[in-house]
Amino acid sequence: MDFFETVKSRHSIRAYRQEPIPAGTLDQILEAANLAPSAGNLQAFEIYVVTKAALRQQLADAAGGQGFLSGAAAILIFAAHPERSAVRYGRRGSRLYAVQDATIACAYATLAATAAGLGATWVGAFQEQAVRDVLDLPEEMVPVALLPMGFPAEEAVVRPRRQLSDLVHTIG
Ligand SMILES: Cc1cc2nc3c(=O)[nH]c(=O)nc-3n(C[C@H](O)[C@H](O)[C@H](O)COP(=O)(O)O)c2cc1C
Repeated sequence: MDFFETVKSRHSIRAYRQEPIPAGTLDQILEAANLAPSAGNLQAFEIYVVTKAALRQQLADAAGGQGFLSGAAAILIFAAHPERSAVRYGRRGSRLYAVQDATIACAYATLAATAAGLGATWVGAFQEQAVRDVLDLPEEMVPVALLPMGFPAEEAVVRPRRQLSDLVHTIG
C-alpha cells in the first residue's frame, strides 16, 4: 500500500475477528517499529507482545474495563525505558526522549498494522501500575501505549480532523 494511502486508511478499529495474526505479519510490524527514529538512536523503549486470552483480559481491566482489548488477536505494549536514554541525555532523556521513542515506535507499528490489513487502536487510558503488574515489569519501565490489533470485524469510522488552517501556523 502506498504510504499516504496507508495513513489515510488508518482508523481506530475496536472489534477483531477471532483469527490469529500470522507470525510473519507480526514480525513485519515489529520490524517497522524497530525502524522508528529515537533520540541518539538509543531506542529507549521496550515492546511487549501479549496474545494469551487471560493476559488480554487483565490488560482490558487495567485499561479501565475497555473490553475490546480482550478481543484482540494481540496486544503490543510500548514502554519507555528511561534509564537507556538518561545514560546520555540525563533528565531530558529520562523524562522526555524515552517517552517520545516509545511513542514514535508505536506510531510506526500502527501504520504497519494498517498496511498489513489489520486494525488497531491506540490505547492510552490505563493504570500504569496495573499494566506493570500484568506484565511483571520493573518499576522503572513506563508503559505509554497499548496497541490491541487483529483482523477488523467492524467498518472503520472516519473521524473529523481540524482544518490545517486552524492548526498550522506559518511563522515566516
Ligand atoms: C494518546 C492516545 C490515547 C488514546 N486512548 C484511547 C483509549 O484509551 N481508548 C480508545 O478506545 N481509544 C483511544 N485512543 C484512540 C482515539 O480515540 C482515536 O485515535 C481518535 O478518536 C481519532 O480516531 P481515529 O484513530 O479513528 O482516527 C487514543 C489515541 C491516542 C493518540
